[in-house]
Amino acid sequence: MAEPIECNSRKMTLRRLRQSPLVRELVNDVVLDKKKLIQPVFIVESIKKREPVLGLTGVFRETSEGILKQMESDLHAGINKFLLFCVPSVKARSQFDFSFTTKQIENIKKHFGHDVFLGVDVCLCSSTEHGHCGILSVDENTVLNDQTVLELTKAATEYAKAGADCVAPSDMMDGRIGSIRAALQSQNLESTLIMSYCIKFHSRFYGPFRVAADSTPKNSGKLKDRASYQIDPGFSKDAFLCAQRDIEEGADILMLKPGLPYLDILSHVSKKFLKPWAVYEVSGEYAAIEGLAEKGLMDARLGHLEAWTSLSRAGASMIITYGARRAKEWGL
Ligand code: PBG
Repeated sequence: MAEPIECNSRKMTLRRLRQSPLVRELVNDVVLDKKKLIQPVFIVESIKKREPVLGLTGVFRETSEGILKQMESDLHAGINKFLLFCVPSVKARSQFDFSFTTKQIENIKKHFGHDVFLGVDVCLCSSTEHGHCGILSVDENTVLNDQTVLELTKAATEYAKAGADCVAPSDMMDGRIGSIRAALQSQNLESTLIMSYCIKFHSRFYGPFRVAADSTPKNSGKLKDRASYQIDPGFSKDAFLCAQRDIEEGADILMLKPGLPYLDILSHVSKKFLKPWAVYEVSGEYAAIEGLAEKGLMDARLGHLEAWTSLSRAGASMIITYGARRAKEWGL
């Protein structure tokens, strides 16, 4: 019979495997790589000169020309995957004009071709007068699902035609993945990826983004926030159902956001649903680390690397992060 394992700390120390950086490198489960990072970028029609985004160090609201220079420099820093957010000047309530975004996609693709992977966010919140992610009912108490899906499908198809490698709907309407997939198929655009923002919680961590994307919901009618379309932080079952549904409807990549406050969900869904999982380390998460670092309470580099390590450990195949372009400088 085998001897019972001795748990006496003098004989079996767990600290043996923590003793040096080289041993730690070997035993670690997570290896970070900048190939796995996606950089969000903003292009704003109404500006003449790029503007920094409050809280998001290294991130700017860019002009159409400036973005090309910024992306050149990102390529030099080893970052070649992007998620594009465009902010048009003209706002509407229905029948949206997506031409500002399609023009940016064409420009970027003309300039960089296959050297970059270009994902494009598909939502209406930067295009609506009220900042909500869809078309409102007449009484302004709700976002109309099916009318919104029609607009999103039109947007996604135009972006795919303009050359987007991936369309990423972030609105949280029901049925948009199926509708977009069908439209792409019918237009011979079957190689365009769909990355669904499928588990998107109704979070307080989106603040800096909404300033950058000009998408803060204005108080209209009963609809003062996005609680009636994004997932409640306490309702995990809703998250699981969204994942299942979006896979059935044809999503290629599933996304969860925010990251760190929802690691339990990420860990669960990445094991249960065998699809590539993206996690979006959202603006408030990135800005929180920057805020601590500014006060001298955290080493920014180590704080960001720790967050990315945790997101990978929990099952993310890729990380969308505002810090992607700083990864090289941080040793990745
Ligand atoms: C909405 C959208 C949001 C983000 C990206 N697209 C959230 C929201 O305003 O509800 C958040 C990203 C971030 O905070 O970095 N279409």
